[in-house]
Amino acid sequence: MQQQQQPQESTREFIFTTADFQRISKLIYEHAGISLAPTKQEMVYSRLARRLRVRGLATFADYLSLLDNRDEPEWEAFVNALTTNLTSFFREPHHFAELTRFLERRKRAQQPVSIWCCASSTGEEPYSLAMTAVEAYGTFTPPVTIVATDLDTSALDKAAAGIYAEERVAKLRHDQLQRFFLKGTGSRVGSVRVRKELRELVTFRQVNLLDTQWPVRGPFDAIFCRNVMIYFDKPTQRKVLEKLAPLLARDGLLFAGHSESFLHSADLFRLRGNTVYELAQPLQAAAAGGR
Ligand SMILES: C[S@@+](CC[C@H](N)C(=O)[O-])C[C@H]1O[C@@H](n2cnc3c(N)ncnc32)[C@H](O)[C@@H]1O
Repeated sequence: MQQQQQPQESTREFIFTTADFQRISKLIYEHAGISLAPTKQEMVYSRLARRLRVRGLATFADYLSLLDNRDEPEWEAFVNALTTNLTSFFREPHHFAELTRFLERRKRAQQPVSIWCCASSTGEEPYSLAMTAVEAYGTFTPPVTIVATDLDTSALDKAAAGIYAEERVAKLRHDQLQRFFLKGTGSRVGSVRVRKELRELVTFRQVNLLDTQWPVRGPFDAIFCRNVMIYFDKPTQRKVLEKLAPLLARDGLLFAGHSESFLHSADLFRLRGNTVYELAQPLQAAAAGGR
């Protein structure tokens, strides 16, 4: 297989030194908890080169000066550029089967359900949660609230708009497509839009998981925290888990991504199976706020 050539420092459009990369890594780690391995240097270059072009700058040192001067719009663009938003509808389908069983138990008990999707990216995950809720209750007004948050404001804007290329929904069942999406016409041919009734089930908001205060109110019956902790180191994961635990209802479920493990925090969360966690026993007893 032919190896793709990485651009050499001398052939690059912008001057980008290892020291620049190290400063960028430090800034994004301190702001968002995202740990950038040294192998991510080229990724960082290509993602931020666009910003240098927009701002008419020649070097990453000039770009870093903007950030040092607290240029707020640039900070937002910087953070948005360095997040990875990979997601899909019904990603890790076994979680949605587990959620359906959970909702059916709640339905029998006539208890409302509150769900937090804390790294919602461009919306595919929270809309999959909303579809699951509508299907479980057989109505577009299920007693389920879904709060979807992310750090990346451009991902949140895309999520709230709910417009996707048709390929993104190609694997959904035909009846789901009919029930939950509108086909684009005219200039929108080739895209679909999530129906208003489904969009209205999800509230989008910006939350940085690294912040000490989160503008969300628990207890949540389910927290979907999937494929975001992989970007954090263990101490950061621990801090986030310490803040998540008091927000989970006593019999609530925490859903993690397929390659994530919270076993290092077994005092907080116990594995229930297949990357689904519940509160560890001692905390359940102590969680006065939990249901
Ligand atoms: C790979 S996506 C995962 C999306 C979805 N949860 C899934 O599993 O398909 C990771 C998301 O985490 C978000 N993210 C990264 N750091 C964050 C932070 N400190 N606070 C909140 N969200 C963050 C990114 O913006 C991105 O949208």
